[in-house]
Amino acid sequence: MSALPKHLAEAIALAEERGFKLTAEVVAHLRTMPPDAVHAAVQRMIQLAEQQTPRPLFLSKDLLEASGAELAARKEPQQPRPIAVRREEHKPRYSIVVNLTTVGRVEGTGDAFVRYFQSRYTQLAQIIATEHRIAATPLASIRRLYEQGHRDEEGLYAVVMVREVKRRSDYTVLTVEDRESAATVIVRKEVVTPSQAYDWILPDQVLAIKLVAREQYMIAKDIRFPGLPPRLREPLKQKVYALFIGDFHFGSKLARTDLVRRLVDWINGRVVTPEEREIVENLRYIFIVGDLVDGVGIYKGQDKELAIHDVRKQYEAAAAALLWNIPQDITVFVIPGNHDATWPYLPQVPPFRELSEPIYDIKNVVVLSNPSVVEVEGRRILLYHGQGLDAMIGRVPGSAYTQLHKCLPNLLQLILAQRHLAPVYGEATPLLPTKEDYLVIKEPPDILAVGHLHVAAVTKYQGIRCIATGAWQDASSYQRRHGIQPDVGYAIAVDLSDPLLQARVLRF
Ligand SMILES: [Fe+2]
Ligand SMILES: [Fe+2]
Repeated sequence: MSALPKHLAEAIALAEERGFKLTAEVVAHLRTMPPDAVHAAVQRMIQLAEQQTPRPLFLSKDLLEASGAELAARKEPQQPRPIAVRREEHKPRYSIVVNLTTVGRVEGTGDAFVRYFQSRYTQLAQIIATEHRIAATPLASIRRLYEQGHRDEEGLYAVVMVREVKRRSDYTVLTVEDRESAATVIVRKEVVTPSQAYDWILPDQVLAIKLVAREQYMIAKDIRFPGLPPRLREPLKQKVYALFIGDFHFGSKLARTDLVRRLVDWINGRVVTPEEREIVENLRYIFIVGDLVDGVGIYKGQDKELAIHDVRKQYEAAAAALLWNIPQDITVFVIPGNHDATWPYLPQVPPFRELSEPIYDIKNVVVLSNPSVVEVEGRRILLYHGQGLDAMIGRVPGSAYTQLHKCLPNLLQLILAQRHLAPVYGEATPLLPTKEDYLVIKEPPDILAVGHLHVAAVTKYQGIRCIATGAWQDASSYQRRHGIQPDVGYAIAVDLSDPLLQARVLRF
């Protein structure tokens, strides 16, 4: 548990002076409240407790609720703090490109999954064809390659979906299939360039492989991922910064509301360096990439790690501690994660309004689906919580939960190279068998932003800025078991006006 902030320590001392103790639950709640509302809340609780017979020893959650102070504090947005920086007037310029508020009728049958994977295959095959990387040679089917046999030593490209990957020391055996038939393919390490791409061959991927048929198997001469062309962009006339943050987990006992307060102060102009001043003065957009709240019933034993047990109240706490305190001239985009109040499958529609009302009620907050795409100042931003990364960890050579700082940049690049947000289908990443596969990256973005693993990372792929945001929650029992060392209190600032989309990792 983190050290108590001063205002909270003072409130506890006040209660103790009068002979009361605060329950852990109440302390956790007070942490989520604006600091200047805490003193009044505790005073009111003391008054109420003193009227009770017998006189209670503890100031409990019931008293806090009865005091009404908590709710009053939340409903009254805080006055913006005095700012040390000045933001000039700026009209937000954005459009929502993809926001999945519905995904059509979904059936959970085996047929539905077959259709879903067919949609993935068809879309990615089209992307491979239009990227013109293999335009010189016509595409062949596996069947045609077998029929031609070894007459063609040059080989022909086929678009296949990988079913199985068996790695050996200097070659890999793949089972692949297209619409009609399957084949066993031997891939020698040296046929794949760049070298890291060899590690990127994974089950469920759609690839173009140049194949030569033998009697029983095929030899790969070349492998092409769907990939994307280099992204180039013009500078913007006006400086504009965007801030990427995520994984607040409001409602958890481990949520670092003390650091959130520092973040809010910073956004409101309490900056230290001239460099930060430039960011805050030009900060126009904030992107929150999921797990705003901890939710309820997300994992076994979560109950013990919760400070707030009602998801609506968790969203209230998120609004009170964070969203209400973001100045109105900054537009905030919020997508859900696996802890938010929506279904647990990908793609996720926006959080259900009945359960997350407080975040919908804020004028400068735009609530979207996971994934979603927004175009901001002409830059296309792909927002994704990142659940698909779980199925990649352990399967991509060199990746592990204990090595996230090392492997996460590689995984983000791989997502873009495969043009798919969940390139490996796995138990860890429940997918909804929608008629159309919405996780295919149809249009290359300028920025890909993910959260979920609670580790911060910044990298680039073909000119696309890739971001993982870190978290605002201390390591949970689940994360400790997996050996994840979270980056707590991190935010990534990106200069949208810069053609290179320079990113800075900020620590609070
Ligand atoms: Fe999270
Ligand atoms: Fe998550």
